[in-house]
Amino acid sequence: METFKIIIDGKECEAYPGETVLEVAERHGIVIPVFCHHKELRPEGACRVCLVEVEGAPRLATACTLKAMPDMVIRTDTERVKRARKGVIELILNNHTLECPICDKSGECELQMTGFRHGPKKSRYKEPRREKDIVIKGPLIEIDNDRCILCRRCVRMCGENMGNRVLGILRRGYQAYISPFNGDFLESGCEHCGSCIDVCPVGSLLDRAFKYKDRPWRMTKTWTTCTLCGTGCRMEVDTYHERIKRVVGRIGVNDGHNRGYLCVRGKWGWDIVYTDKRLKKPLLREGEDLKEVSIDEAIEILKEKVLNRKVNLFIESSLTNEELTRLAAIFGTENVASDALPYQEALTGVAEITGRFDTDKLSVIYDAEIIFVIGDFIEEIKADSTTLFSNNLLI
Ligand code: SF4
Ligand code: SF4
Ligand code: SF4
Ligand code: FES
Repeated sequence: METFKIIIDGKECEAYPGETVLEVAERHGIVIPVFCHHKELRPEGACRVCLVEVEGAPRLATACTLKAMPDMVIRTDTERVKRARKGVIELILNNHTLECPICDKSGECELQMTGFRHGPKKSRYKEPRREKDIVIKGPLIEIDNDRCILCRRCVRMCGENMGNRVLGILRRGYQAYISPFNGDFLESGCEHCGSCIDVCPVGSLLDRAFKYKDRPWRMTKTWTTCTLCGTGCRMEVDTYHERIKRVVGRIGVNDGHNRGYLCVRGKWGWDIVYTDKRLKKPLLREGEDLKEVSIDEAIEILKEKVLNRKVNLFIESSLTNEELTRLAAIFGTENVASDALPYQEALTGVAEITGRFDTDKLSVIYDAEIIFVIGDFIEEIKADSTTLFSNNLLI
């Protein structure tokens, strides 16, 4: 692809046609603060915190919507830009309830960080803070509108990316607030994918299962694979003292094939780890009794029993490849079958017809010109591309 040059803060930057100034800057390590912009969402140009100076232009422009043009000269660090940025942040903070000590987002809040780096040291406003006091609670999600900065990331994520259109802005101007359209998450058709929570820059959209449970900075963050279905989405599991506190999708950061998008099972299904019904230790039958043994002991006993015998493993498709490889090594077998096999056979059938056997990232769906849905209900899969590629791609 042909590229061209633009100058940002005196640095020569290579730009691709169609890129915004913000995208070019990000690729070249130049930080421009953002609130409404999110790399998974279409540019909105709503918050104005990304204002930059364009040589020859009378007004400041929003870097997130401004397309890069050959020989453009941009400044992100002039006094004029800094003053404008400060003004925007000052206005947002003027009505933002400052509950950082008890806010779940504190420590990973974009308003906190951007305010700290680019905001004013004190506010000039003397007027009382606006209190909307509108808290909307669903079974798993809560919206605290006093913390909302009306960036509309959640609205766009739900409507444009998830295809659900559950969230919207109700009322206008000073009274505007975020809500499911009829005020109720369940009745508005929320699928509880949690994507709105994961893109909210502040602590306005809350995971109720996590509320007041811990602080983001003291949890251990572990990237892992969801095992609640065969899709195997990548996700971040946050733990404290080895106890799971929450699961986060990290949309736009996650480089897994799901790009951080999760479904309700991935986002909130983790509590099955702690159910009493779960067998937590192997049980060894001794006559009528069942005796608890360690996993190592159980493996040794199993190995003895299968010694010199041909073993075929049949495993559930939700296990990871690493688990599969480990099991095969323990039992010394290469004969592994899984309940994912029918899907693989279906894909082989597709390959025979189309000449391609392609199990690429789920995200390739965004670039597809034509999507064939075979043997499924389009209404059910429209908002959940994970479903399309996991359980339901059958001929
Ligand atoms: S959203 Fe951010 S700035 Fe607002 S109370 Fe929470 S941590 Fe503080
Ligand atoms: S959880 Fe998913 S479906 Fe529900 S409001 Fe948020 S983005 Fe929309
Ligand atoms: S709830 Fe969060 S994502 Fe939605 S508009 Fe408010 S601040 Fe933005
Ligand atoms: S980030 Fe550019 S206008 Fe909000």
